[in-house]
Amino acid sequence: MAYSRVAFLLFLISTVAIASAANNFYQDFQITWGDGRAKILNNDQLLTLSLDKASGSGFQSKNQYLFGKIDMQLKLVSGNSAGTVTAYYLSSKGGAWDEIDFEFLGNLSGQPYTLHTNVFSQGKGNREQQFHLWFDPTADFHTYSILWNPQQIVFYVDGTPIREFKNMESNGVPFPKNQPMRIYSSLWNADDWATRGGLVKTDWSKAPFTASYRNFNANACTWSSGKSSCSSSTQSNTNNAWFSEELDSSSHERLKWVQKNYMIYNYCTDIKRFPQGLPQECKMA
Ligand SMILES: *[C@@H]1O[C@H](CO)[C@@H](O)[C@H](O)[C@H]1NC(C)=O
Repeated sequence: MAYSRVAFLLFLISTVAIASAANNFYQDFQITWGDGRAKILNNDQLLTLSLDKASGSGFQSKNQYLFGKIDMQLKLVSGNSAGTVTAYYLSSKGGAWDEIDFEFLGNLSGQPYTLHTNVFSQGKGNREQQFHLWFDPTADFHTYSILWNPQQIVFYVDGTPIREFKNMESNGVPFPKNQPMRIYSSLWNADDWATRGGLVKTDWSKAPFTASYRNFNANACTWSSGKSSCSSSTQSNTNNAWFSEELDSSSHERLKWVQKNYMIYNYCTDIKRFPQGLPQECKMA
């Protein structure tokens, strides 16, 4: 009896130690919808979302963040994923909201995913840039990161910057900086528009569709009861270099490489869409 209590206590202590040392989905996130289709597995190290004909699923962070460098590894729905959308984004929600979006639009087997990005400030978006990727995002996990500091927002794929949205408030372009945001993710059916404008429908014979998440890391400022506290979720010594980080010249070269070779849509060059003139931030670039 006494022995088994000690053993149980030791078991508890070791579980807690593991939980605080490694990323832990149960600690950082909550499943918000999908009626059992979202799951936290492998000692809280893996999260999966699934979608079938009846419903998709989703989760959100427990914390709210106001600035941060946030990494997540995703492995997207494989095979025929046409019609499915995996959204992974930061949002303040509410009216006049701020939002930083990654959306992965599925495709027929062997056809490339579209990575759709957008930035909303004070409720205004219409800032889409879309990319194809230089690898198959369904074959393995890849790291998708958002750097959000007072100077800019940068989207990264495996450490390569794919998009930069600079703070151009001095030129009259609102920048997200006052509203804390949560991380959200969902897997849902969007075959009314996602693949070739809705021409390709979801093949439900391939359901359930599954996307997986692991290795979440936030070097970020969390926001709670009106106060900000900045730290890292996995490092004991705080590393706040991200707060003043800007792209150096070699990062700019890589950004240009991605934009030249993998960008398939840029709102800043869509003159037809903005007959009254391109948005202000496009003219600054
Ligand atoms: C799907 O594949 C086609 C053909 O390669 C491509 O034009 C399109 O951008 C891809 N993405 C989506 C979401 O349809």
